[in-house]
Amino acid sequence: MSDNLHDSPRSPLPRPRYGVDAPPIPAVSAAAGLACFLAAARLRRGRITMPAAGTALLAFSGIYLHTTLRGKLHAWERELDRAGLKGNEQLLDLGCGRGAVLVAAARRLPEGHAAGADLWSKDQSGNSRDATLANASAAGVADRVDVHTADMTALPFADGSFDVVTSAMAIHNIPSDEGRYRAVDEAMRVLRPGGQLLIADPWWMARKYAAHLGQGKLRPLGPGYWYGCPLLGVTLLHAVKQP
Ligand SMILES: C[S@@+](CC[C@H](N)C(=O)[O-])C[C@H]1O[C@@H](n2cnc3c(N)ncnc32)[C@H](O)[C@@H]1O
Repeated sequence: MSDNLHDSPRSPLPRPRYGVDAPPIPAVSAAAGLACFLAAARLRRGRITMPAAGTALLAFSGIYLHTTLRGKLHAWERELDRAGLKGNEQLLDLGCGRGAVLVAAARRLPEGHAAGADLWSKDQSGNSRDATLANASAAGVADRVDVHTADMTALPFADGSFDVVTSAMAIHNIPSDEGRYRAVDEAMRVLRPGGQLLIADPWWMARKYAAHLGQGKLRPLGPGYWYGCPLLGVTLLHAVKQP
């Protein structure tokens, strides 16, 4: 986009770095895959099953890393385009992490504002308020971004404060259905009537949120947003707050 300073080959700013979601998962999968190949070579047994398992585990790890480093960014570019933002909206991103969605949204809001909320738990490598603000600066949108240390289940914002609420792979981290539904209800509370809610989460969770709300459209986000395999695919819930 025109305000992406990295479009210039002479940009003085570092590129935003959005980290890896739940990094132990691809690390363990890759290590187990390599161990399968080593075991097959050393034991001279399981000549088919061990290499097959190793290949599957390495493929899982590769697909996972592609999703977290690239695929999710492309998926959110598509979904933010679909949301038809006018550019002056007030947007809130729940569980913003290092700002992958927050920054993509802020780029579309030259006259608006994007707020992120996070508790900085260990669900993403290197997530912190400073890392997120540094990414906003690197993307040239620091003037329209702020970041709050806040729990999604008890948001420090007034009713109806936002035109759009987004959340990417964050609500499922809350340990109980009760807590997750509280976060969905909080998202709806802080939306203005007619505002849009966009939640991307594992497909079975997104279905539960839609059932809890009693409304919303579900859209699988495709292989580019699989955390390793189709069973760990991500679905978008798109709901509009009824006036
Ligand atoms: C897998 S990361 C995803 C980050 C970002 N949305 C993205 O897609 O890159 C999940 C984020 O949710 C945050 N989180 C987990 N539970 C939270 C809670 N109860 N309130 C706010 N943030 C939370 C974590 O700290 C983490 O940064």
